Amino acid sequence: MLRVGVMVSGGGTNLQAILDAVDAGKITDTEITVVISNNPGAYALERAKKHGIEALCISPKDYENRDAFNEAFLNKIDEYHLDLIVLAGFLVKIPAAMIEKYEGKIINIHPALLPAFTGLDAQGQALNYGVKIAGCTVHFVDAGMDTGPIIMQAAVPVLDEDTHDTLAARILVQEHTILPEVVKLWAEDRLTVNGRKVKIRK
Ligand code: GAR
Repeated sequence: MLRVGVMVSGGGTNLQAILDAVDAGKITDTEITVVISNNPGAYALERAKKHGIEALCISPKDYENRDAFNEAFLNKIDEYHLDLIVLAGFLVKIPAAMIEKYEGKIINIHPALLPAFTGLDAQGQALNYGVKIAGCTVHFVDAGMDTGPIIMQAAVPVLDEDTHDTLAARILVQEHTILPEVVKLWAEDRLTVNGRKVKIRK
């Protein structure tokens, strides 16, 4: 059984999409072992609890400094012996030591067509830039900010009348498809990384 930890900061609709895919039998031999948030008020934690999944908060605010948080966070992650760590709207920088230790085992969903619009508020950046096509990316996490090898992307149109919310909602629909799909591919051991390129076995 593959052990997956999902890191969240907010509403958790991507977490829900993964839970639904597991429940529907689309992702097999996989359990969501733990859901961790930096934000005690994250609704994602409620979603996890409703599912009977261990849900906990570990916040940088509760530590003296970043190094202390990073160490505590990594120790907590280690406790669960995870095979895969999914950043599903997790807005905290992952400690370098954790990226090194879990190389190739951390994936992130980003609401832009990388390499465009890295960092915070990717949807706002896309709107301000005036792109006609936006989208989302699932990628492996490396030491950079949203720079790891790309696993899967989906595109959506940007409409003249779009607001931040309408564009973000259109992108989110695609996120809910590609993130569970990548978890499934991972669970089936169908991803191979070669430099920047990720091959998906058919
Ligand atoms: C999603 O749009 C995700 O791509 C984004 O946060 C949202 C979380 O939504 N992540 C980032 O911006 C990471 N840089 P959710 O909590 O409903 O899944």
